[in-house]
Amino acid sequence: MGKVEELKKKIDRKELKIGIIGLGYVGLPLAVEFAKAGFDTVGIDIDPKKVYTINRGESYIPDVPSDEVKQLVEMQKLKATQDYSEIEAIDAIFVCVPTPLSKTKDPDMRFVIQAVKSIKDRLREGHIISLESTTYPGTTEEIVQPILEESGLKAGKDFYLAFSPERIDPGNKKFTVKNTPKVVGGVNPDSTEIVAYLYSQIINEVVKVSSPKAAEMTKLLENTFRSVNIALVNEFAIMCDILGIDVWEVIDAASTKPFGFMKFYPGPGIGGHCIPIDPLYLSWKLKTLNYNARFIELASEINTNMPRYVVQKIADALNEKQKSIKGSKILILGIAYKKDINDLRESPAIDIIRLLEEKGAYVEYNDPYVPNAMINGKMRESANLTKELLESFDCVVITTDHSNYDYEFIARHAKLIVDTKNALKKVPMDIKEGKLYKL
Ligand SMILES: NC(=O)c1ccc[n+]([C@@H]2O[C@H](COP(=O)([O-])OP(=O)(O)OC[C@H]3O[C@@H](n4cnc5c(N)ncnc54)[C@H](O)[C@@H]3O)[C@@H](O)[C@H]2O)c1
Repeated sequence: MGKVEELKKKIDRKELKIGIIGLGYVGLPLAVEFAKAGFDTVGIDIDPKKVYTINRGESYIPDVPSDEVKQLVEMQKLKATQDYSEIEAIDAIFVCVPTPLSKTKDPDMRFVIQAVKSIKDRLREGHIISLESTTYPGTTEEIVQPILEESGLKAGKDFYLAFSPERIDPGNKKFTVKNTPKVVGGVNPDSTEIVAYLYSQIINEVVKVSSPKAAEMTKLLENTFRSVNIALVNEFAIMCDILGIDVWEVIDAASTKPFGFMKFYPGPGIGGHCIPIDPLYLSWKLKTLNYNARFIELASEINTNMPRYVVQKIADALNEKQKSIKGSKILILGIAYKKDINDLRESPAIDIIRLLEEKGAYVEYNDPYVPNAMINGKMRESANLTKELLESFDCVVITTDHSNYDYEFIARHAKLIVDTKNALKKVPMDIKEGKLYKL
């Protein structure tokens, strides 16, 4: 029996031990799925708080229920540690560490390099490694593979190496780790085969591609597609405003076309760890090859400017009431980067708060998912969303359309509303008339 067949048998018998490096939005759901499928799973994270929380049987990721974590920890199927020496006993390692941008918008590969170096020191024959962190095409073969091969072992022969992009959509109840198809590209056919086989234990459909580069590029096409289309519709919002047309009505009408159109909605900008960042990884890589990725740069420019556009809208709305931003009390509703989650990373609401404060506004926020947050150098608490609060502010700005807001209540008691998400769509006209400004 060949080495790959032997490993497959081991997987079938659930004798393979799984290690997940980085227990964040991506790593924790993956660890829980493997543990639920019956594999002994160890999560390695440098954050002692995360390790402690998991080992107490609690989850800090809204999509992962605490009772699942608790049950798996009690059954000793799942544990967390800061100790990399665990890798010696682990057979398959999934790297899910952050890949942010540096201040100059270049890829910051520190976390990936640090994690891979820690693996290299413990690498042994038969190890299976899959990188899930979003990154530019070439990372697996140009950065990860050479570091691992410093061990003296050869990728594809002594150990197996692949890239498999994570597609998790936080807050999405319909598509989870299990029913979202997974793309896998290994450094050679054996690597693709074994890594795909392993994922197929927890994911319904695994799609094999010919190389890690193809898998890396797949993720970047998906996220660039979103970034460009969001930018397009944001620019449509601006054009509609100039022309005196309701962009939301136009989008709804266009989306009645049953083919060739996919609806995207405008908003105050883009946020999260992926859409604002990933396309820039690709444009950075292309710059090193003397190519300017024009669509990516333009989309980034339009989306990054949306918070400024929203601030201009707020200024216009206040102006109608003979007020200026300076000295006005402005309440921001929803600071998470999208609805029904608690993630603030790259959230445009944060930029809007900063811009408003720079212009002299007094700003408070409410977000049912974010009880407190450090914004513009100041620790703040989510204000209680009462009738009195709404009535006491000059302007209420809806930046995130959380499902559990009572929009009729908000519309009834706010003096002036700037709605960047068309969240008040269903509120009767007589309640919102004369005080609503939409994007
Ligand atoms: N969040 C998403 O929706 C999403 C979706 C698809 C892809 N991704 C990609 O997945 C990767 C991880 O994203 P995330 O949202 O899970 O990030 P995260 O910040 O939530 O989690 C990353 C974890 O890695 C840990 N970590 C950092 N360096 C480490 C090291 N050397 N060893 C062990 N642990 C380490 C951190 O402490 C943190 O807990 C990124 O590349 C991201 O672009 C994220």
